[in-house]
Parts: sequence; C-alpha cells; structure tokens
Amino acid sequence: MSQEPGTPSTAELVAGSEVVVDAGPIAHGGFVVARHEGRVLFVRHALPGEQVRVRVTEGAAGDRFLRADAVEVLAASPDRVQPPCPYAGPGLCGGCDFQHVDVAAQRRLKATVVAEQLQRLAHLERDVVVEPVPGDTHGLRWRTRTEFAVDPAGRAGMRRHRSHALLPIDDCLIASERVVGTAVLQADWAGEKAVDVVAPSDGDAVVVRIPSDEAVAPVVTENVAAQSLSREFDVSARGFWQVHPGAAATFVDAVIAGLDPQPGERCLDLYAGVGVFASALAQAVGERGQVIAVESDSIAVAQARLNVASTPWVRYVQGRVDHVFGVESTGRVSGTRKGGRRRPGPRRPSSDIPPTADLVVLDPPRTGAGKAVVGAVVALGPRALAYVACDPAALARDTAYLLERGYALTSLRAFDAFPMTHHVECVAVFTRTGPDLP
Ligand SMILES: C[S@@+](CC[C@H](N)C(=O)[O-])C[C@H]1O[C@@H](n2cnc3c(N)ncnc32)[C@H](O)[C@@H]1O
Repeated sequence: MSQEPGTPSTAELVAGSEVVVDAGPIAHGGFVVARHEGRVLFVRHALPGEQVRVRVTEGAAGDRFLRADAVEVLAASPDRVQPPCPYAGPGLCGGCDFQHVDVAAQRRLKATVVAEQLQRLAHLERDVVVEPVPGDTHGLRWRTRTEFAVDPAGRAGMRRHRSHALLPIDDCLIASERVVGTAVLQADWAGEKAVDVVAPSDGDAVVVRIPSDEAVAPVVTENVAAQSLSREFDVSARGFWQVHPGAAATFVDAVIAGLDPQPGERCLDLYAGVGVFASALAQAVGERGQVIAVESDSIAVAQARLNVASTPWVRYVQGRVDHVFGVESTGRVSGTRKGGRRRPGPRRPSSDIPPTADLVVLDPPRTGAGKAVVGAVVALGPRALAYVACDPAALARDTAYLLERGYALTSLRAFDAFPMTHHVECVAVFTRTGPDLP
C-alpha cells in the first residue's frame, strides 16, 4: 500500500515507528501478518482484512520481522467487537489475544491456523472446524486455574505482553467467578512472587503461593462428567489439570469415540497425568484388557495410582516417555545437561513397555511427542492412536511422522478450550493403514 506523508521509510522502521498497513492472514500465535515494503510485521490486536495503523513494538533497522500492535483501526473487520476486558489492548495485558474478536470468529481464526499448520508441516489438506466446549457461549469466566504475578508493592496482576512488567488488575474476565471471588486481586501479597488460584469442580477454591513445592500443595478433587466416564480425580493444585471446566470431559469423550476401545484390548496412555484417559480406557477394555500409563511427574503418578486403584489392570510407569521407550527425544530438554552436552540416552525400552499394543493415547506438552517417540510408538503396531494436542504446530509435525509410517488421519476435532486466547486443543485420531504386525 502507499505510504502516508510523514510515514517513516523502511530503513527507519524500528520499535516505536508507526505505519499504516493492510492486515493479512492470521498466523499461529495470535497475530496477523502484514507487509510493509518487503518487511514482515506480526501484528497484535488486528484482524485479517483490516486497515490499521500499527506501532512497532520490537525490531530494529534491517530486521526482516518486526512485532507491532494495531493502535488505530482505519477499516474494521465485521468480526471486530469492543473488547469486553478493559485490560486488553496495545501495551496492556499479555494474557488474551482475541478479546477484540467475535467469539465465533475467534474459532474460525483458530480453525484456519490448525488447517494451515497441517498443510504446511504435514502436507495435508483438511477443513477444520473449531467447536465450542459444550456450555461455553460467550468465552468469558471459564478459567478455573489462573496464576497471577505479584509486583514489588504486593499487587497481583498479569504480565504485559512479552514483558516481565506487571499490569495490576481488579478483575480477569476469563477467570471463573470462583477464582476472582477469592479476592486474590484485591489482597496484599507483599513478599510473594506469584499466586495461583485453583477452583476445582468440587470444594472451595484454593490459593497457592508461588514458588510452592508441588509435594506440599493442597490436593483438590476434579469431577469428570463425560459420556464415556463419570468419576472424580484427585490432583495436586499445582499439578496438571485442564483449565476449562468442560475440557476434560469433552476430550475424553472425543478420544474414546475416536478409538472405540474393545474389551480385552491393550492400551497405552502416554503423558497420562492423573489418569483421565487411562481410567476411561480401563473402563472400556475391562479386566481382561490392559492399560499402561506413562507419566514423568512423580506427584501425579502417586496421585494417579490412588485414582486408578479400583482398576488394577491399569499400570502406571513413572518416567519420561522417551526414556521409557529407550529413545533419544528430539526435544531440547531431553538428555541435555546445562552447557549443552548430551547425556547418553537409555539403550533399551523399559520392561514395562509391551511388544505390541492395540491403542495408544498421546497427550504431550506443547513441544509434542517428537519423531523418536512417534517411531517407538508405531513400532508397537497399534490399530489406532489418539493424539491430544495443545499446539497445532507440534501436532502437524507429529502428523507428518505418523503419515510417513503408514497411519492415516481419520478424524480431527478441534475445541475452543481457551476462548479469547489464540490457543486451541485438537484431538486427532490416526488409524493404521498398513498390514498388522506379524
Ligand atoms: C498435557 S498434560 C496431559 C495430562 C493428562 N493426559 C490429562 O489429560 O490430564 C501432559 C502431561 O505430560 C507430563 N509430561 C511432560 N513431559 C513428559 C515426558 N517427557 N514424559 C512423560 N510425561 C511427561 C506432564 O507432567 C503432564 O502431566
């Protein structure tokens, strides 16, 4: 587009510069891509198709990529709304990316991102629909676990975008009423670094001062009321649990519907947490079946063993999935000491891993399972795998490895489990297309 009078030339476009751009497509990470005289700008607070004045927030002369905030909307998208949160906007809270976007349109943006990642990284064309988590209509007041930072004056708040600076807040509109009802945002937290508020499905909300030892954090009870599973789980307040109250039930139903476990089958639940998928699989395969769950966090494993005690055909293995399978993870953390030298990885799989499996659930952290783990898993010859993914890029990378190894993506569901943010959760089901293992 043409440059306005007074607009800096490309060479001068640095942090603080303002320029008018046409906002291009959405990209992974909650920003849209715009171009200005050969340079790429990652723009927050804009929408595809808009014309916006942006202020560069990061970047120096000569950088090919710059970060920017839309500070004025000259031609608005029909999907733009007034942000319900007063703390959303340029230079303000770093927590939400899409407060300025109609909720249905947020889901379309996320669907575009998932489809684009699959196309780019796995060469797979898919029409993606992002479904709301049942019961969520407006995308507000859903977050049941929220960590707030504390400033030196003892005020709790949120970090500004890509900054350690704290923005004190009186309310957080995506936090549940029970989280903010603890008055955590009004209290004086002098001397603390951060506070974590957990509003479990059963019992009172608890506030944990951070840093906190997970071993001494309170244990809370979460209830999963799904079609495939209806029961409670005990979990450390500092341990992993889905933050949207409807998410665990939604994902477990999607996994069980996708895998269709049969009585007597042998299943693996990898990155198993406190046992949500392991429990549902155990119920479906029955006592003639077997579930082997692998989880690295020792507190989660101790809790999980109690959670699954009534189904002794679930066996919990504590350890990193890559180590338990005897492979070197491709992730940066695995086997890397401070200083970057690699520890030799374990040479053979743990005896806890059977030679074959019928079904596998993978629910890794954002980095994904990685090529080595995917390779080790498919070597067991499962008839189907369910991959629960919080990062569409990691899912797309691991999808490529699965396609190379004879699996087909047979169903893909995506859920808006984190409204107002760019995050999206996918449940992908892969089935083996090649012959059975001998
Ligand atoms: C996204 S959570 C899923 C937990 C569980 N499936 C659930 O739905 O509640 C990922 C889990 O993987 C565990 N984890 C992270 N890295 C791991 C690794 N390399 N090996 C095994 N578990 C790991 C975390 O402690 C966490 O419990």
